[in-house]
Amino acid sequence: MSKLMIYQMMHLLGVLLVFTAYGALIARVWMGSTAAGLRKFGAIVSGVGLLLILVSGFGMQPVYGWPLWILVKVAVWLSLGAMIVMINRKALPGPGLFAVTIILGFVAVAMAYVRPS
Ligand code: HEM
Repeated sequence: MSKLMIYQMMHLLGVLLVFTAYGALIARVWMGSTAAGLRKFGAIVSGVGLLLILVSGFGMQPVYGWPLWILVKVAVWLSLGAMIVMINRKALPGPGLFAVTIILGFVAVAMAYVRPS
């Protein structure tokens, strides 16, 4: 198994963790639940996911330098990190939190495949 393959799998595992955890956290505030255990679990899982995305992303970045698509992905990563505060404070209604989270993810995925320079 090559180093690149390991980074790619780490990257996508991180993505799965962040979006699954955010889905649970969004459902929690949408329902008006005060479940502290779920809030903590979501914070830990999404935090580990963000870390995996970051480490693997910067593991692969040197191959490409700093094209626009990687800069945008870093901005998406920062925004995704800030989303947990928006979610936990219910800064938007449930569907709004859901939409912003998915749009951020889609922008990162589009950047990875379209790769504007
Ligand atoms: C610090 C932020 C990030 C950096 C530096 C980064 C960097 C990279 C790089 C260099 C690749 C190309 C991998 C290759 O050579 O095959 C890649 C691919 C990819 N990234 Fe990111 N990324 C970041 C954040 C994200 C985020 C937040 C998401 C999704 C929410 C994401 C989703 C993807 C996907 C789907 C691919 C294509 C699959 C793959 O090749 O692994 N990335 N990323």
